[in-house]
Amino acid sequence: MSMMSFAPSHSDKFAFGVWCVTNAGRDPFGDATRKPMPAMQAIRGLGERNVWGFEFHDNDVFPLGASAAQVRKIVRDVRAIMADTGICCCSGTTNLFFHPVFKDGAFTSHDPQIRAYAVHKVMHAIDLAAELGAQNFLFWGGREGAEVDAAKDPIEAIRRFREAMNFLCAYVRQNKYKMTFTIEPKPNEPRGDLYMPSVGNALAFIETLDPPNRAMVGVNPEVAHIKMAGLNPYHEYGQALEAGKLFELHLNDQKPVRYDQDLTFGSASLKESFFIVKLMVDHKFAGIKAFDAHAYRSEDIDGVWDFVERNMRTYKILEEKAYEARANRDLSALLEEIQAGNKAYEKLFTKYSPAAVRKLKALKFDPDKMATGRRLAYEKLDQILTEILLGIR
Ligand code: NOJ
Ligand code: MG
Repeated sequence: MSMMSFAPSHSDKFAFGVWCVTNAGRDPFGDATRKPMPAMQAIRGLGERNVWGFEFHDNDVFPLGASAAQVRKIVRDVRAIMADTGICCCSGTTNLFFHPVFKDGAFTSHDPQIRAYAVHKVMHAIDLAAELGAQNFLFWGGREGAEVDAAKDPIEAIRRFREAMNFLCAYVRQNKYKMTFTIEPKPNEPRGDLYMPSVGNALAFIETLDPPNRAMVGVNPEVAHIKMAGLNPYHEYGQALEAGKLFELHLNDQKPVRYDQDLTFGSASLKESFFIVKLMVDHKFAGIKAFDAHAYRSEDIDGVWDFVERNMRTYKILEEKAYEARANRDLSALLEEIQAGNKAYEKLFTKYSPAAVRKLKALKFDPDKMATGRRLAYEKLDQILTEILLGIR
């Protein structure tokens, strides 16, 4: 039994969506299985468990159609909980998917009136998020997709998405809000297909925004969404990180290529989860680590808090395992052997020049010898890592 407590601290920058905690277990086939927890109780409970931040959709906390006086009262109540518990509001977002008005999209709807309503709703949500101190604002286009391709040209849909994002970036800049935006990719669900299906799609889209807006927009990829697309979270997060665009994580778990399961982090694929954590440790990720999952439908309210604590604890344990792996001599010796190559060939094409071309083209290579000359002991490597994870090394 480890002597470490694995207790969360604010420096972990762990966060939860309010919607994750208030989730009452409803699914497309069945009703709620536990009483919905009020948002205020959810935020307070998170704060009391030393969670650093919470994130919210506008209507998780501010009911649709709330009067100005109601909004003011809610802001005061949330602030009081923040002051009492020390939790911060790290990210805001807009519910652009629940109301039937968004049944065929928000930013990508055919109807300019619906698109205008969506942008109007986002600006109000941004104001509230900024007032509560949010440093990031999420864009998950849950209804930005299609079932019937005959109905919508994807080029037009992307163009509309871009128009909305450019306008909203300008809004944030003009108000001098210290806030970034993130796009959250997902391949499908609730629409048959969504327009921003993977990290790569979102990264490419960001580069097409108006130049002053590009730097403020990144991604917050979610493990479950990546695995629904059958992709590898280590690689997806890696590409976003390498591009300097990984502003926030949405951590959870998922059995691949199924409906969106939003399972507890590490509960379905421990080894893949380890590699996500290892990536963050290796590259000193300093952004928001939000858990976007929910407790099993079979749980009651106590189980919801077990779920909250378990997500963070598993992350911290895997973090410890990442340090253990780094310090393991067998692993590092083997890695050194595997990663070594013929250094004489190192900088042959780092910089283009006619001389470099001449030199490289004139070289003689013996591919047969190169293919067999060096052992890549991956079986051994993976076994050492497996044993570190299983706690016997
Ligand atoms: C609900 C989605 O399931 C989740 O993945 C997303 O992060 C939030 N909405 C934010 O929009
Ligand atoms: Mg998410």
